[in-house]
Amino acid sequence: MRLYLVSRNPKKVEELAHLAKACGIELVPIDIPKVEIQSEILVEVALYSATVAHLSVKRPLIVEDSGLFVKSLNMFPGALSSYVYKTIGVRGVLKLMEGVEDREAFFESVIALAAPTLDGVKTFRGSVRGRIAEEPRGTGGFGFDPIFVPEGYTTTFAEMGIEEKNAVSHRGMAFRALCRWLLENCERIACEGWT
Ligand code: IMP
Repeated sequence: MRLYLVSRNPKKVEELAHLAKACGIELVPIDIPKVEIQSEILVEVALYSATVAHLSVKRPLIVEDSGLFVKSLNMFPGALSSYVYKTIGVRGVLKLMEGVEDREAFFESVIALAAPTLDGVKTFRGSVRGRIAEEPRGTGGFGFDPIFVPEGYTTTFAEMGIEEKNAVSHRGMAFRALCRWLLENCERIACEGWT
């Protein structure tokens, strides 16, 4: 089965391609703009992006929207994570956290699936709890990976390989939910014919 992926983030594409392969899906990135509404709610952003992309390409596709939510910053940057990363970056977030003891945070991911044989857009969610490190560590991954330590680990996401990160990450959890749903519903939605 083939699924198109609307994303211009090569690292995200790489992580999702690994997850798709494990699910027997061929994931094909398409280079169209991901139209994003301004909302604090990831599901709303993903639903809208998938709807708009599907109207233009009319093929089975997914979009993934994610964000980092820091408890002591009242869940900032959340749905604004991409913008915050581009502006103040990892260093900026660490500065906001200077002297802050409560370093609890979580990542959330929403994958929205749209396809011609599907009634509406279907969403899948994943999240991972962890904490914000005192300083950046590691060179892998992307975005806030160097400062996020998932619960039960001492290493940051940036110190993990793709497979290890996917096994615990918000994105991995959301994609596995999508995979399970496709396996259970493939016949009903004729997903074998998706090309
Ligand atoms: P978007 O989903 O493309 O809007 O981007 C979400 C932003 O959240 C990214 O640009 C990153 O800054 C951050 N983010 C989301 N997922 C991850 C992750 O797995 N690791 C590190 N940063 C992430």
